[in-house]
Amino acid sequence: MKKELIELKVNGRRHELAIEPSKLLLDTLREDLGLTGSKRGCDDSSCGACAVLLDGTPMLACTMLAAAYQCDGGGNEVTTVEGVAEHGALAAIQKAYGDWGGSQCGYCTPGFMMTVKSLLDNNPEPTEEEIKRALSSNLCRCTGYTQMYEAVKAAIKAEQQGTNV
Ligand code: FES
Ligand code: FES
Repeated sequence: MKKELIELKVNGRRHELAIEPSKLLLDTLREDLGLTGSKRGCDDSSCGACAVLLDGTPMLACTMLAAAYQCDGGGNEVTTVEGVAEHGALAAIQKAYGDWGGSQCGYCTPGFMMTVKSLLDNNPEPTEEEIKRALSSNLCRCTGYTQMYEAVKAAIKAEQQGTNV
């Protein structure tokens, strides 16, 4: 299939790429940009392992055509899990996941990170119910979720205290 030139803005950097128009954003991130944090965990749009942020909103990269989300100066900025760390250091939520056992095999973790980042960016003090509701869009087959809720609460506390958990 004929390739077309597109421009994507990912984690604050612009990239010009020649890709097939039917290529999914998830595959473009992983194969063309080497950003392999985002995962494919299902084939029916149900797991959230591929979640990235598009202008701050969690989206399933396995359902999006990369060519449809070119940066246009006014938006379409993509953030992946590789863009969550702050100034080269783990963000509070990343450290809290490690400390509280929010991650076991880790396959689902990048998707959860993006969902939590969006939640806390928009609502820095969510209730337990709001945390559970937000994370319900992502599936984990290992942890049982309790540790993740605790990790999110620990990250919120760390942000409030200005410490890193
Ligand atoms: S890979 Fe499962 S929702 Fe995208
Ligand atoms: S930590 Fe293994 S699927 Fe979530």
